[in-house]
Amino acid sequence: MCPHVQDYIRNMRPYIPGKPIEETRREYNLKKIIKLASNENPLGPSPKALVAIVDSLRELHRYPDGSCYELKQALAQHLNTVPSSLFIGNGSNEIIDLIIRAFCIPGDFILTAQAAFIVYKLCAQIHGAKTIEIPISDQFQFDLMAMVEQIKQNDKIKIVFLANPNNPTGTFFDHLEIRKFLTEVSKVRQGAVLVVIDAAYIEYLTHDNASDPTLLFKEFTNLIVLRTFSKIYGLAGLRIGYAVGKEELLSTLEKVRQPFNVNTLAVIAATHALKDQEFVKNSKEINTQGRLFWEKNFVNHGITFWKTQGNFVLVNTQKSFGKSGAEVYLECLKHGIIFRPLANYGLNHALRISIGLPEENQVALDILMSQKDG
Ligand SMILES: Cc1ncc(COP(=O)(O)O)c(C=O)c1O
Repeated sequence: MCPHVQDYIRNMRPYIPGKPIEETRREYNLKKIIKLASNENPLGPSPKALVAIVDSLRELHRYPDGSCYELKQALAQHLNTVPSSLFIGNGSNEIIDLIIRAFCIPGDFILTAQAAFIVYKLCAQIHGAKTIEIPISDQFQFDLMAMVEQIKQNDKIKIVFLANPNNPTGTFFDHLEIRKFLTEVSKVRQGAVLVVIDAAYIEYLTHDNASDPTLLFKEFTNLIVLRTFSKIYGLAGLRIGYAVGKEELLSTLEKVRQPFNVNTLAVIAATHALKDQEFVKNSKEINTQGRLFWEKNFVNHGITFWKTQGNFVLVNTQKSFGKSGAEVYLECLKHGIIFRPLANYGLNHALRISIGLPEENQVALDILMSQKDG
């Protein structure tokens, strides 16, 4: 046993990403592979972002602009806020890590729900903080008022993390629920508990009651909202996301980040992708159609599933095929379809399918349905 490692690091299990295409190709010797495992944009990056990246390649000998001036200006205009209410990170994952680094000490707690995005718990562990997870219902409903009670009882809880919509459950909170939650949390210990709402999939919401919490920080000073360019903007490979909140909070993150935490190409791509709202609109449309395709076919084939508001759908493999999510995942992998098993979320009976292009969805559905017979 390595004597240099702290117990809280030794006990960690690393993040398990979606299986990469090249790895699958190597292991299974397959020509055609469809990856529907990491909630990526199946359309690729915005073409405008690609052109801008190519134009900037000659400047790569320079360090990036650590302040991300242009991107912050563009984002501030896009969101109707001021640049000082923005913080840019190396993907929203980095910002989750920085928030815990900045606002927790070892022995503190973060609060979230079962089956919440797993990176909250992993980052807490890295910093020696503990995670309390509030149970969720069979239908994956989060109990926000149980969270408030927990916060009242435990003054070591420093941060609450909620994803809206959540990955992997695809569930969301409506405007009234969020507002009530924020109001209640603000009353505890004079608003000392920070709330982080992770809105990585916010652009995909179609439900009438869904709403965007991004600007609620103007009312709730203990709120940080996370957004990303990895999903609808199609830039997951470049690693760029941002936080929106009060300057007092975000200036603390500026202190604890690396001097050049976001690379030049990522900043340029994000700035141009932001201007390409036509691409964002198309991406949403493809996703909404894809979600309807899967839902319609699940109903037609008698598949049990959970409705989601993200760019992914969730199948109950145990009820639908009498198999665990991992078993169905492995069988489909042999046919070149990469889905995402969710055992690390305690959801052994579920499989997550990212929504692809129409032709990808059709091929993946056919392979998935062959599990009924096997
Ligand atoms: C809820 C949620 N938040 C954050 C992220 C990470 O996004 P990024 O690529 O910006 O680090 C993901 C990625 O899957 C996610 O599902």
